[in-house]
Amino acid sequence: TRVFISRDMASVALGADDVARAFVAAGCEVIRTGSRGLFSIEPLVELESEEGRIGYGPVGPADVAAVLDGSHANRLGRVETLPFFANQPRFTFARCGLTDPLSLSDYATHGGWKGLEAARARAPQQVVDAVKASGLRGRGGAGFPTGIKWQTVLDASSLAKFIVCNADEGDSGTFADRMLMEGDPYCLIEGMAIAAHAVGAGHGYIYIRSEYPFAISTMRAAIDACAHLIAPFTLEVREGAGAYVCGEETALLDSIEGKRGQVRAKPPLPALQGLFGQPTVINNVLSLAAVPFILAEGAEAYAAVGFGRSRGTMPVQLAGNVRHGGLYEVGFGITLGDLVNEVGGGTASGSPVRAVQVGGPLGAYFPPGMFHLPFDYEAFAEAGGLIGHAGITVFDDSVDMAHMARFAMEFCAAESCGKCTPCRIGSTRGVEIMERIMARREQDSPRPDPAIPAGLAKALYSRSPAPAQRGAEQEIALLRDLADTMKYGSLCALGGFTPYPVLSALDYFPEDFVAPAPAKEAAE
Ligand code: NAI
Ligand code: SF4
Repeated sequence: TRVFISRDMASVALGADDVARAFVAAGCEVIRTGSRGLFSIEPLVELESEEGRIGYGPVGPADVAAVLDGSHANRLGRVETLPFFANQPRFTFARCGLTDPLSLSDYATHGGWKGLEAARARAPQQVVDAVKASGLRGRGGAGFPTGIKWQTVLDASSLAKFIVCNADEGDSGTFADRMLMEGDPYCLIEGMAIAAHAVGAGHGYIYIRSEYPFAISTMRAAIDACAHLIAPFTLEVREGAGAYVCGEETALLDSIEGKRGQVRAKPPLPALQGLFGQPTVINNVLSLAAVPFILAEGAEAYAAVGFGRSRGTMPVQLAGNVRHGGLYEVGFGITLGDLVNEVGGGTASGSPVRAVQVGGPLGAYFPPGMFHLPFDYEAFAEAGGLIGHAGITVFDDSVDMAHMARFAMEFCAAESCGKCTPCRIGSTRGVEIMERIMARREQDSPRPDPAIPAGLAKALYSRSPAPAQRGAEQEIALLRDLADTMKYGSLCALGGFTPYPVLSALDYFPEDFVAPAPAKEAAE
């Protein structure tokens, strides 16, 4: 019997390796795939049958007999017919979960290399035009039109040009880059080879964070296996060293060059003077992995899905306190509420959703009152937030939003590259203001903070004693003033976007920043 089991790190963390070993011991032919993307059914086992692959999940190593005779209680039927999968237009993650990630024949059988073939049959300008017509925008977070970036590199005259893939996926709650690299590495390589043809680049780098050892080894093995198919273009993997700021494109370029990862002032744009001073296409994994579909199926097919100026699909990542966490590729325009409640099924704890953070640690927190927001770059920017890399982290009603605002400042202080003052010093002053706000709140009305062991909260929040004359309102005014300075005075998004989580917490959840009014408490 042929059995398909994911080898994605999320599946392995849930026990997929043990399950695979049990099926091998039972004499089955086990094919390890990427993950389908729904973690509540992992470890997922799919049995080949005449009706297609029949899924069972979650299963454990002791369930082999029940799965093989079809009596297991968690029989799911054909996985692609489950509502979670049936509603997804899988443009980028079409193969992920279906194929053996390193099998070249699997890749070719499932439509692989069609995009590269189509690209190489066209002149570079025609390829750039197709990417422009698709409406694809940078999936790393900033949403800059990919075709325009490529045009800038194509138009630059230089003997050497580079393609750099940003796989430093540092946002909390995001895992789409990792899933694609572990589950369908040739798709990323094909996208990079298309970019190389489009702009005239000879060599490329994939910069992967060191926290992703399995993605690193998978990408290296895939590059070796398909080198003859992408030649004369050549590729290599570079490993990050754990700094969040190296996901910023110019710090990333410095890091590849062997320097300490520090942000460069722009201009010059990397498209004109990037890696080693040469014109460089630097794109996120998801932007590059979207390109094979665009070339193979046509720009119109990609642009047909979407909302306003946000065209095509976004692989949304649902994480945190959510019942059905995982990867959900969907056309732009779906509402935030549908993503959290319909797709994600609400919280895992069963308590009401209180806040969701969209776009990683620099993204805004939204309350359910904002769940009407369509998933769209412009709509989120207007609402004081960002889509970022499309990570959505869900929190239930036990979350303390003042604690989350403090965390945002603390994160910035820990990860700041130190180049500019508003970020380097402002973030530390921000932690201190938040500690004073929380110490005052604690004094007036102690409340349990689930994230901090009992007894520690008071000691922690009292490290930065408030000047006696400064009231809560003055502290909050100071916080807003600091946020303004960081937003407009920082060189890159780390310092510049830290105000988003802080101010959204303050604006949408002001009650968490002060002690509850006695009247309100009495009414409750
Ligand atoms: P940006 O707006 O400065 O630049 C966007 C991209 O467009 C860059 O690659 C830039 O070089 C390019 N560009 C701009 N004008 C151009 C032109 N005329 N020709 C060619 N290329 C041009 O934004 P930045 O600082 O690169 O990224 C900020 C974003 O990163 C934020 O929105 C945030 O969501 C996201 N982010 C993502 C993380 C992740 O883990 N994926 C982590 C942290 C932040
Ligand atoms: Fe460095 Fe922060 Fe300035 Fe960015 S904002 S350049 S991380 S100090």
